Amino acid sequence: MAKKMLQYQGSSDYIVSDEMRNSVNIAMALGKPLLIKGEPGTGKTVLAQSIANALNKKLIVWNIKSTTKAQDGLYLYDTVQRLYDSQFGDGDVGNIKQYIQLGKLGEAFMAKEQLVLLIDEIDKADMEFPNDLLWELDQMSFYIPETRETITAHTRPIVIITSNAEKELPDAFLRRCIFHYIEFPSPETMEKIIRVHHPELEKKLMDQAMETFYVLRNITNIQKKPSTSELIDWLQALVVGGITPKDIKQEMPFLGVLLKKNEDLDQVLEQVYERQVNKKDKSINKTLSRFYR
Ligand SMILES: Nc1ncnc2c1ncn2[C@@H]1O[C@H](COP(=O)(O)OP(=O)(O)OP(=O)(O)O)[C@@H](O)[C@H]1O
Ligand SMILES: [Mg+2]
Repeated sequence: MAKKMLQYQGSSDYIVSDEMRNSVNIAMALGKPLLIKGEPGTGKTVLAQSIANALNKKLIVWNIKSTTKAQDGLYLYDTVQRLYDSQFGDGDVGNIKQYIQLGKLGEAFMAKEQLVLLIDEIDKADMEFPNDLLWELDQMSFYIPETRETITAHTRPIVIITSNAEKELPDAFLRRCIFHYIEFPSPETMEKIIRVHHPELEKKLMDQAMETFYVLRNITNIQKKPSTSELIDWLQALVVGGITPKDIKQEMPFLGVLLKKNEDLDQVLEQVYERQVNKKDKSINKTLSRFYR
């Protein structure tokens, strides 16, 4: 990629692949939103923080819920307060401006300096939500009829949008975004990510934990595969619990940190048990007895 375009290089607390770095820089160069998809816990949300840190810009986070409407991101007109003031207050209720509260998008547009706007988990809202934002994200502008004002962005914010992999978003919306899918990290990348979170971790413990982790992820029929964030938590649990690499292999301690469904726990124990029985290894009985006491 041309050198001029290279702005985001990753940050000390966030490991980026070359593809991810390119996607971020292309989205910034074209002034388009970057849509990030990927399994839960693969670093979608923290990417925006990393971009803000690396480029020394402020981050505004708009967390999307099932009830969020596009309008919430623009502005809200507090009619109830105005009515209250007209009856009991002594303020100037004719000044409607004071009853207009900007939403996260409005806030980002009003900022004097360029900032990073994260629209987190866009797939949580209903299907209309992304389409309702098309105009505003394209034009970086919206009109407030109550005050006859147009809010236009001083500088185009860097917009990062995250979505979980399952749900499809409308075509018209996709067309306006640069898209990046976070592939599940390879063991080499995962090692670097772990080092960010556990710089002091003993190498042998990390290697054994990683081996067990990837075996668990590859067990068939598992409903909720453990992700990066669960591995980071598990390693913390292993350290706090004073677990040795040998213990991990024999007992698979704190499995509940990695697996969150009963069916998955059963599945793992069953498959590991079969494997150990074939190898005539008795150590797995320890694990089983802890779960089926
Ligand atoms: N590339 C990475 N470098 C450093 N840390 C990472 C990386 N990827 C994931 N993590 C860590 O994994 C954890 C989960 O990340 P994050 O919350 O961003 O995931 P997510 O994809 O947004 O998950 P969800 O879909 O559940 O919201 C965080 O603690 C984050 O620091
Ligand atoms: Mg997230």
